Amino acid sequence: MDGNGRWAQARGLPRVSGHKAGAETLKKIVEHAKSRNIKYLTLFAFSLENWNRPDDEVQGLMKLLRRYLKSETAELHKKGARVLVIGDRSLLDDDIVDQIETLEQTTQDNKEIIITFAISYGSRDEIFKAAQKMARKCIEEKIDPETITQDFFEDCMMTRGIPDPDLIIRTSGELRISNFLLWQSAYAEYYFSNDYWPDFSKEELDRALTSYQNRNRRFGGILKQT
Ligand code: FPP
Repeated sequence: MDGNGRWAQARGLPRVSGHKAGAETLKKIVEHAKSRNIKYLTLFAFSLENWNRPDDEVQGLMKLLRRYLKSETAELHKKGARVLVIGDRSLLDDDIVDQIETLEQTTQDNKEIIITFAISYGSRDEIFKAAQKMARKCIEEKIDPETITQDFFEDCMMTRGIPDPDLIIRTSGELRISNFLLWQSAYAEYYFSNDYWPDFSKEELDRALTSYQNRNRRFGGILKQT
């Protein structure tokens, strides 16, 4: 969800106003994704690197996150959404972690759409911690490393149980991945939108979906002739 800051700056507003507008876009896009029958939606809300931003912006984002979790827990549950959060929770304040746990527990049996928020998330950090976890398991459970599989590794990831993304959309015109789902996106299709996230619309999501529908996914193979 990139481009909140530039959206605000272009209007002479403080950066946090862009994040506020971004939170409204988020609600709209979740609703639209559900109406388009998307079953898994993963949103990059705050990266590990974002902790390095000026304190007032980080605090503004945390305030917004608190407000979002408070107002949206019941809303998301009502929509039948199951919500998961990936990322390093040890860096978040305890009250936010509590709110996240409440959201996850409240919605755990819902099946309409699975929404994953990446908060305090970095993909290299996730992969590194999964490797550590796997090594620990091998020692503790006396598993021969020669016998382990990629499934075993994926079970150690924060995204365990969530299928690999088919389509990744990056907003704001930037043409980079920025440490998002590096392992999981091996065969993802990409769509780069020039819209800043607060301007990202239902129509633009539909354009991304249409673009995706018109691609040939070969997963390293060749197109089957029918
Ligand atoms: C990146 O834009 C966006 C973020 C760091 C925050 C995303 C947050 C939201 C969409 C609000 C909803 C969030 C929560 C926490 C529920 P940027 O600030 O890097 O934009 P720029 O590249 O134009 O500076």
